[in-house]
Amino acid sequence: MVSLLVQTKVCTLQNSFPPNFVARGDFVIGGIFPLHYNQEMPDLNCTYRPLPVKCNGFDPRAFRWAQTMRLAVEEINQNMDLLSNYTLGYKIFDSCAYPLTGQRAALAVLNGLNEDESPLCSTASPLLAVIGESGSAQSIVVSRVLQPFRIPMISYFSSCACFADREKYPTFFRVIPNDDYQVKAIAQLLVRFNWTWVGLVRGDHEYGRFAVRGLLRELEGTNVCVAYQEMIPLLYNQQKALEIMQVMKNSLAKVVVVFSAEGEMTPFLKDYMTQNITGIQWVASEAWVTASVFTGTEYYPYLGGTIGFGIRKGYISRLHDYLLTINPQRYPNDILVQELWEALYGCSHFPSSATQLPSCTGKEPLLEQHSAYMNTSSPRVAYNVYKAVYAVAHSLHNLLHCQPGRGPFQNNSCAQRNNVLPWQLQHYLQEVSFNINEEEINFDLKGDSVPYYDIINWQRGTRGNIEFVNVGLFDGTKPAGEELVIQEDRIMWAGHQSEVSVSVCSASCLPGSRKAVRRGEPVCCFDCVPCDSGKISNQTNSIECIFCPEDFWSNKERTACIPKKVEFLAYDSLGIALTVISVVGACLTMAVFAVFFYHRSTAIVRVNNSELSFFILFALTLCFLCSLVFIGEPTFWSCMLRHTAFSITFSLCISCILGKTLVVLAAFTATRPGDNIMKWLGPKQQRIVIFSSTLVQVVICAAWLIDDPPYPYRNTEYEHSKIILECSVGSTFAFWCVLGYIGLQACFCFVLAFLARKLPGNFNEAKFITFSMLIFCAVWLAFIPAYISSPGNYADAVESFAILASSFGLLFCLFAPKCYIILLKPEKNTKQHLMGKEKK
Ligand code: TRP
Repeated sequence: MVSLLVQTKVCTLQNSFPPNFVARGDFVIGGIFPLHYNQEMPDLNCTYRPLPVKCNGFDPRAFRWAQTMRLAVEEINQNMDLLSNYTLGYKIFDSCAYPLTGQRAALAVLNGLNEDESPLCSTASPLLAVIGESGSAQSIVVSRVLQPFRIPMISYFSSCACFADREKYPTFFRVIPNDDYQVKAIAQLLVRFNWTWVGLVRGDHEYGRFAVRGLLRELEGTNVCVAYQEMIPLLYNQQKALEIMQVMKNSLAKVVVVFSAEGEMTPFLKDYMTQNITGIQWVASEAWVTASVFTGTEYYPYLGGTIGFGIRKGYISRLHDYLLTINPQRYPNDILVQELWEALYGCSHFPSSATQLPSCTGKEPLLEQHSAYMNTSSPRVAYNVYKAVYAVAHSLHNLLHCQPGRGPFQNNSCAQRNNVLPWQLQHYLQEVSFNINEEEINFDLKGDSVPYYDIINWQRGTRGNIEFVNVGLFDGTKPAGEELVIQEDRIMWAGHQSEVSVSVCSASCLPGSRKAVRRGEPVCCFDCVPCDSGKISNQTNSIECIFCPEDFWSNKERTACIPKKVEFLAYDSLGIALTVISVVGACLTMAVFAVFFYHRSTAIVRVNNSELSFFILFALTLCFLCSLVFIGEPTFWSCMLRHTAFSITFSLCISCILGKTLVVLAAFTATRPGDNIMKWLGPKQQRIVIFSSTLVQVVICAAWLIDDPPYPYRNTEYEHSKIILECSVGSTFAFWCVLGYIGLQACFCFVLAFLARKLPGNFNEAKFITFSMLIFCAVWLAFIPAYISSPGNYADAVESFAILASSFGLLFCLFAPKCYIILLKPEKNTKQHLMGKEKK
């Protein structure tokens, strides 16, 4: 920019950009502020000298920052302890909030003030450091311009994580935390409020790009998914903005994180408010969470409830009074002051028919309500500016107080006081540490400062406006997990609600169900499927249902494992019924026994072989009773007893009947001459027959018990939700042998009785035996399929019933007719009648 014309040896500036504020001093620092937020590009057809880029849209907020820098320098110059005997000067330039114009400011700050100042360009402009810039995109450009000259810069608002690269930005310092901390904080906030489906909107600049990238990195491994990512174009474009709003409207993501600044947010929000979109919970980045432009009442319905991380605030005691001294009367020629007045009071200094604004008197009072400029209660960015200026002053102070021979430079030298070089100042900046308002200020090796944020919530103020309320903090120096402190009860959420908004793709899966990811969709969008039986999930949003341990089963809701119901033929209604029937049967049998015993001398008892009858009755009693063994919890002993007891008593019973049949058969055949079969069937022989045929069954049972006895068994296969306690037969072969033997005996008995049925006599026992055996066989034939197909404990009931039914069958067929005669027809109870020889 400075070109040396050799012929004349006079310096001419290619283009001149005068500073907006200057003050001379022994040491000069530059300041770059976005005093305007809009630019107008000249046309570049190069048929005439291009006009400079025109800056529009005065920004009172940045103007306040610039004034804060001036105040800080003035304070330092008045301070006797800091830089005594030296004065600090400044040159403040406007960057117009745009990288290109930021570059212009950076070059201008390097230049001498004008050609008169250094006509031969022999000395460089005495610039030691630059305070600037605001937006990261501009700071990058400024840093690149200053870098070859090793001039340190301290940014008060550039938080982009990209500056952490010391190789690319070696002279960069900042008094704002690196965005890496902010995205961490935002990620923690999203996780904390369970906002798992969020939208991201950013401006088209380095800041937005790096912040979104950082946030995505932080969200990896959390349960938060990003529904959409949208970018507001650099040159605001309504069509694109409306498209973004359409996306916001259609998405289930009610929480929208925005990395942007007032510049692009203002037109965006204006359009947003016309779209009537409701229910959006904004999460604002530090760049706009404390922007006072949005505090107007008209914004509340749309932006109320916004939450975000604001940079640390501070207190600058003299700022309020200092800002009040700025007015058009005191600075009659300053265009910026006039623009400030225009911006604050809506009046014009150069009334023209075009603008139709009233003209300013210049005496309008500055009030607190002109918050864009006068908001001095909790300066944040202005406080950063203040800190940055002090950081330079303290470093310079340390540099000037270097003790010769103990300096930090080569050979322990110090910097020359009358020729301090910027890189020497950088060395001291890196080391500086001082306090303002008890806050320690220093820079780490990357030039970053302490990561601390306030959590700001936008609540309704008394006038219906928006107020920034502090509801917590994020302290990045705390150990992981303790950084975020939120006073939830103080937060007002979007839509003037005290309940946290919900922003999820799918509602959470309740206990008892699990998440099932939808194919091709993010993990946050899922369906909930109920757990299968036998599996449970006891937490919301379970990924998998877990199997219940052995002997446990899921409850109906599938939320807990409960011990499996243990079932066996217990003394419930069925068990009691069986018990009653068997006891009744046993009693009945004993009653018959009593009747027979009482009438033992009568013909019918004697004819029918009283001893065998008593045996049968005894065996039948046992048969009735042995069905009781099937009821109750199966144990080692009861299992062994069940089948053996039943089979032996039945064998005994049928053996007796068999004996009787044989006797009947023999008695009647014996009447034929020449037969003395009766000799072979005396009481002794009868007993032997009974005994030996029962013995066979006893032997089978003994072999069964010794080799492979029945044992109690917990059957879990039949029904998974229950444990059925049953007796496993052990050897199935033995089981069927036992049954088979009884069957064989019964059949044999049946055949014999069948043969004897036609024998003469009024009272033919054989008829009844045939009949009883028929019933017996029928019962047991029916039993087999029923037994095999009955589940677990019902098999026992079936067997028990079969025992009872067949016992009753025997009892009735064999004894009912006799009892009938004994008790009701005693006149027929004679030998003659029984033999059918009674005279009619
Ligand atoms: N922290 C932001 C940044 O580093 C603040 C900012 C200032 C900003 N001006 C901006 C962000 C303009 C976007 C656009 O950039």
